[in-house]
Amino acid sequence: MTEKRFNRIVLTGAAGRLGRVLREPLRTLATTVVLTDIKELETPTVAGEEFVICDLADHAGVGRLLEGADLVIHFGGISQEDEFAPILQSNIIGQFNIYDNALTCGIKRIVLASSNHVTGYYPADEVIDAKQPMRPDGLYGLSKCYGEMLASFFNDRHGLESVCLRIGACMPGPNTLRSLAIWLSHADLIELVRCSAMTPGVGFSVVYGVSNNKKSWWSNDDAERIGYYPRDSADDYTEEILRRSQNEIWRPWQGGNVPTRDYRKPETLVFTPPEAITPNPDRQS
Ligand SMILES: NC(=O)c1ccc[n+]([C@@H]2O[C@H](COP(=O)([O-])OP(=O)(O)OC[C@H]3O[C@@H](n4cnc5c(N)ncnc54)[C@H](O)[C@@H]3O)[C@@H](O)[C@H]2O)c1
Repeated sequence: MTEKRFNRIVLTGAAGRLGRVLREPLRTLATTVVLTDIKELETPTVAGEEFVICDLADHAGVGRLLEGADLVIHFGGISQEDEFAPILQSNIIGQFNIYDNALTCGIKRIVLASSNHVTGYYPADEVIDAKQPMRPDGLYGLSKCYGEMLASFFNDRHGLESVCLRIGACMPGPNTLRSLAIWLSHADLIELVRCSAMTPGVGFSVVYGVSNNKKSWWSNDDAERIGYYPRDSADDYTEEILRRSQNEIWRPWQGGNVPTRDYRKPETLVFTPPEAITPNPDRQS
């Protein structure tokens, strides 16, 4: 990231895994990056950063947070399957509070961390695109569907732009069979967010956050629209993953393990149909 286009960017979820990855690169885009989370940062702020503790569920607090900002990178909230109460507060109410206050503050664009779990009930190995109907695989995925619908509504009603990033698995390297399809490298995440922030006229876009993986399940039309061309690939890790994953349980859904969870008790596995525990012998990865 090189061009300093923005005066003030707000990064929610700044203390989280991906917030920590985005923090430094975002400084090249804005004079000030406002870092925010419900918990403390691991490392102190540096020049060009401010830090504000804020609960996304606090409408007035989010309003104060967004004052004077010209872009929001919304990565805060519950990031996995959980019980309804925290998902309601952090994700459903939290995302509404971001959009509602962004409108009041005159913010023109939000880069929204969505998730592959919006389409987690599609079969693994079926290639889908972002225009196909959502098939959420749990309460977390449902909350991300709501976020994308908020983005669509605020764009249609008010012209507030959004790029919704259906992130696959963003981590230093792929570590499972599933991640050979859905891995997003840290470098590609940074580039994806840069494109989402900088490309003019994104309107309402939905982009799968995935690296250049041959086994990807996603045809990514809006990626071209925002100029995102990933450079890394999980293919480079195929041999190593195949060697390490002999005993891995292969799930038949794109959402992996999440569709097997009881939404009232997400720590409990409740649904394991026989085909879900048999790795597909025809599968190359
Ligand atoms: N990491 C991935 O591979 C991945 C995959 C798909 C989607 N995503 C999405 O990307 C975003 C970032 O993911 P991550 O891996 O960094 O998650 P994370 O859990 O590490 O970080 C999320 C941050 O949000 C904060 N948060 C939670 N509730 C909050 C609240 N009520 N108010 C303020 N802050 C709150 C947490 O304290 C945490 O620091 C999330 O929206 C997640 O759903 C991530």
